[in-house]
This record gives sequence, structure tokens and C-alpha cells, in this order.
Amino acid sequence: MISSPTHVYPVIWYEGSVLLIDQTHLPAEYAFVEIHRCEDMAQAIKTMIVRGAPAIGIAAAYGMYLGAREIETQDREQFLSQLEQVAQMLRTTRPTAVNLFWAIARMLKTAYETIGTVEEIRQVLLTTAQTIQAEDLQTCQAIGDRGLELLPKTPAQLNLLTHCNAGALATAGYGTALGVVRSAWSCGRLSRLYADETRPRLQGAKLTAWECVQEGIPVTVITDSMAAHCMQQGMIHAVVVGADRIAANGDTANKIGTYSLALVAKAHDVPFYVAAPVATIDFAIATGREIPIEERDPVEVYQIDNTILTPAGVEFYNPAFDVTPAHLITAIITEHGAFSPSQLQQELQHKYVA
Ligand code: MRU
Repeated sequence: MISSPTHVYPVIWYEGSVLLIDQTHLPAEYAFVEIHRCEDMAQAIKTMIVRGAPAIGIAAAYGMYLGAREIETQDREQFLSQLEQVAQMLRTTRPTAVNLFWAIARMLKTAYETIGTVEEIRQVLLTTAQTIQAEDLQTCQAIGDRGLELLPKTPAQLNLLTHCNAGALATAGYGTALGVVRSAWSCGRLSRLYADETRPRLQGAKLTAWECVQEGIPVTVITDSMAAHCMQQGMIHAVVVGADRIAANGDTANKIGTYSLALVAKAHDVPFYVAAPVATIDFAIATGREIPIEERDPVEVYQIDNTILTPAGVEFYNPAFDVTPAHLITAIITEHGAFSPSQLQQELQHKYVA
């Protein structure tokens, strides 16, 4: 089955600069931010103008090119050493999504392996960033199609539940978890998507819902605490979520709240799928205990838009991600097929990871 991309592209290379959809303003406003400098790209990643693991990787790849463009020397060794500094600045933006580190490493490797002048290395870096972006689009379409093959065969039309936003906005333009939803919708297998609102930043209510509305995919937003009730009522046939980093044993870091969703799915015998590209699997990490979990500003917990929710004198805790243990995951859907967590190393590491 051939599925097509959406018209939502969160990162666009246009006439010498990068346009980012400002995801902090959706759904109220669909606007772009123009990025010319590497430092501004780092800031855009930190402040979540661009977010979602693969999209962060793509943005960082362009950030590497923008940084390379700002380096003034024509000396290859000096250029490479300053490029390392650019890489280091981009690495400090967000710690959990491994796609960021993967894309930066790929860009650096390309720079070192390119024989030629500094200007030639710069050109190859731009092409590589564009290739990373184009590959992600194809990868997500493949994930969507592999996921479709795996979904429960009955009923004919399914209700799926997702968490956060693992859609076009979080990737080059198709989505991982939402890629599976898109594929299911385009061949008549989807009845409705339930989208957790995803506190504290509300990526489900704001971004996933917006994407679905753009394409006419039926979507019902629920608060995170309603998922158990919906499953108990038999309203959900499968859960599909994305991932920020998957350890070699299949433990999966994704948006905070994913772990509790997986526990609830297990309790109700609802299949729980993680959809992610192989680039999201960190084979250097044996288990989820080694995954760094980003902690963000407490303001995300105590304030929504301009409204402060809590009384003065309260403390806050704001981990942005949690780790779902592998035993709660039915299958991990990648561009190369779906695997149980225990199959990852054997089926993917040796065949597809350099
Ligand atoms: O903090 P965010 O919005 O970057 O978190 C995004 C998620 O947790 C997504 O589910 C994940 O990155 C997968 S995106 C295809």
C-alpha cells in the first residue's frame, strides 16, 4: 500500500534559511519562524518551537549546516574543530531524544569523511541534512504501512489511542505513531483516534488534534486520566505511541504518561505498540535505566497559557519523559518491520546499524 505525506512539514529549507512551524503557537496560529543561525536553531529546539524526536534530529542536522556556514576559516583542521563546537552546542539542547545525537553524529562523520575544501564540506553537509529529512519521510511511511499490517484484524474499523504528538509535526511530515493512524485511516481501518491531551504541554490536545483536523481524521481528545476508563469500557482496540529513545532491550522513553498508559493497556489486554525509526534505538544503552530524562521548567506544570493553577508555596516536579519497560510493549514497529522488544538486537542491530 502506498501512503502519501501530509502537507504539514515542520522543517523547510527555503532560499538559504530554515523555516520552522512554530509549534508553541498551534493550534491558535499556524506561523513560521525563520532561522539563519545555528544558535537560533539550538534555541528553537530548547524552547520546543520544533519538537518530537525525528524533527529535532532534522532541525539539528540543518543547525550543523548553519553552524558550518558561520565558520570563517578555510583551513580544514580548524574548520572541523569549530564544527565540533557547533555540535556540542546543539547536543546540549534536549537530552532524551537520541535522534538529536544520531543526526549530529552523522553530520560530523560526513564532514570528516569528505575530501575537499571547506566550501565543499559545507555543501555536502547541506545535502546530508536534506537527505536525513527526505529519508525520514520515507521511513515514517514505511512505519505506517508496517503498523497497518500488525493492527488487530477485528473489528474491521478500529479505535486507536495515542499519547503526545508523534505525527507529521514531530517528524519530516508523516509521523510514526500518527503514521500508523494515517495509514489505517487511508485504507478504511480507522474508526476514530483517541488522543490523550498529554499534560503538561498538551501536545495531544493541541498538536495531534490539529493534525487530525487538517486531514479529516475523526479525533476525540480525552484527559490523560480518562484512558483507563475508556479501555475498561471496551472503547480502545490498540494503543500506538512514538518514542524518544529505545534501549537495546526494548525499554522505551517517550512523553511522560506513556508508562502509565502501557500499564493500563496491559491490565485491559489492549495491544500496546511503539512506532519509531531504527534511528531512535540506542543500541549503546542496555536498558532504560541509562536513558537521560529531561526535566523541564516547573512553569509548564503550574501555568497554562497565562493562568496560574496552583497556590503559592507549592513545589513542582516536571520530568518530560518516562520509561516504559519492554515487557509492557506488544511490538516495536520500525521501517524494517515489527519486532518484539527481545528481537531488536538480533533483527535490527546487526543488519541495519553501522
Ligand atoms: O517533548 P516532545 O514534544 O518533544 O516529546 C515528543 C514525544 O514524546 C514523541 O512521542 C516522540 O518524540 C516521538 S515523535 C515521532
